Amino acid sequence: MGFVQTGRAERLRIVELPHPADVPTFAQDVERGLLATPKTLPSKYFYDALGSTLFDAITLLPEYYLTRAETEILREWGWEMVRALDAPIELLELGSGSAAKTRILIEEALRVQGRLHYSPIDISPQALRASADALIAAYDGIAITAYAADYFTVLASDTLTFTRAVLALFLGSNIGNYDPADAAALLGALGRRLRSGDGLLLGVDLKKDRRTLELAYDDPAGVTAAFDKNVLGRINRELGGTFDLADFRHVAVYDEQCGRVDSFLEAQRNVTVEIAATQSRIVFASGERIHTESSYKYDPAGIERLAREAGFKLRRSWFDGAQRFSVNLLVKP
Ligand code: AVJ
Repeated sequence: MGFVQTGRAERLRIVELPHPADVPTFAQDVERGLLATPKTLPSKYFYDALGSTLFDAITLLPEYYLTRAETEILREWGWEMVRALDAPIELLELGSGSAAKTRILIEEALRVQGRLHYSPIDISPQALRASADALIAAYDGIAITAYAADYFTVLASDTLTFTRAVLALFLGSNIGNYDPADAAALLGALGRRLRSGDGLLLGVDLKKDRRTLELAYDDPAGVTAAFDKNVLGRINRELGGTFDLADFRHVAVYDEQCGRVDSFLEAQRNVTVEIAATQSRIVFASGERIHTESSYKYDPAGIERLAREAGFKLRRSWFDGAQRFSVNLLVKP
């Protein structure tokens, strides 16, 4: 056919960055969070191999509308999103996970320009490796540089370089895990790595009624409860913890004032846990909670404010038919 296909191995580079001294380790975050009052654990630790798989299961739940709503938007408008910047572009994705939705944008970009460089960043090396292998096998025109690390670690690293106009992707309401000030700081750090005219597609979940939100974060089949409790299982596996997951119950509460769903693990009895790696003993009173996640919801004015505070300009927003979710194009001035 006269078409030279580049080998799969040479189209995939996985970059492993050393853990920066100023970023706390899992053990440090666990020790600090469980000795604090109230107790708390950072939500980024959900995503070990089991946690990433449980999250993929959540996206299939009827109650977890977010993934289906965003997929609907990308299917309908992805062609326009990719064409909003002048070709050729490259893609940078924060929190790529299985990259199932990203495929819609990758296919549109390949339609425009035939070849595409894609740089996914994900905290889970297992999810990153699996999705990168699958994308390399599926698309002859793609080349991938994948980063298995914390977003801030990659954004601070000089190994991250671009040769084309960048369309950054931060989909799935991943931004919702940051309180508004941290969200602006993260997007600001991203923006400082971009050039004028580069874009960011930001997937943002919208404020809505309490019932819909609380069911989305506490499904009757118990998949979200298993996902939440997995962080305790991970402490057991990686840090020598003695948590009995049956001692805890998953709770999700919509805080309407703050516009966020808070997730907690609540002790069902008085519990004492030992963690070998940190040599700590943690005591829970019956009913005491660990805050494990906040999932912020926005309205259009809040999205506009977030874009501005991060140093971007909001150029366009797309919504699903039921107005549950939004994908927003932010441009660096
Ligand atoms: C992957 C962070 C977007 O907050 O909606 C799903 C994670 N937590 N169910 C979210 C999650 C409980 C999810 N994000």
